[in-house]
Amino acid sequence: MDKPKVLITREEIAKKVAELATELRKDYLGKDPLLIGILKGSFVFMSDLVRAMNIPVEIDFVRLASYGAGKESSGKIKLVKDVETPIKDRHVLVIEDIIDRGLTVQFLLDYLSFRKPASLKLCALFDKRARRRVEVPIDYVGFTIPDAFVIGYGLDLGEKFRYLPDLSILEDKD
Ligand code: IMP
Ligand code: MG
Repeated sequence: MDKPKVLITREEIAKKVAELATELRKDYLGKDPLLIGILKGSFVFMSDLVRAMNIPVEIDFVRLASYGAGKESSGKIKLVKDVETPIKDRHVLVIEDIIDRGLTVQFLLDYLSFRKPASLKLCALFDKRARRRVEVPIDYVGFTIPDAFVIGYGLDLGEKFRYLPDLSILEDKD
């Protein structure tokens, strides 16, 4: 049985989201940015972030699938839903919940840069840096977290736990 243990509280997350939003507001004011969220995990972060930014932004989503039903990834990245907005000459900011091995965002950044946006940056709330397999530059990062499987604030295990307001570690109980 896995029992969730809170790692980062909803209050700590809200404070960090506000800080990131202040920085992003300064950098993107007047640039009509396009925020592209990676479904499904980033939907909670992105909805809090755009409201905290409180400047005109457009939003779109892509869906990339890498993880199966469990904690282990298949290693293959698949584009399940493409971006619907033309991104050429737009200031694009990719919003991701968590960077683990880096494979998912690397795939997406390569894919998007091919379409010649005016700028392309990455904002991630959680960074599991110790697990990185490919180097990806994270322009805006919330928390660096330890190498553990986390759930809540949009993050799931087998589609469960996304609704939980805090970020928790699932501890393996024998
Ligand atoms: P990467 O390609 O290994 O960087 O995997 C990134 C994706 O894996 C994220 O978008 C998440 O969907 C998922 N993921 C990685 N670590 C976790 C975790 O601890 N909890 C839930 N999902 C995770
Ligand atoms: Mg996910």
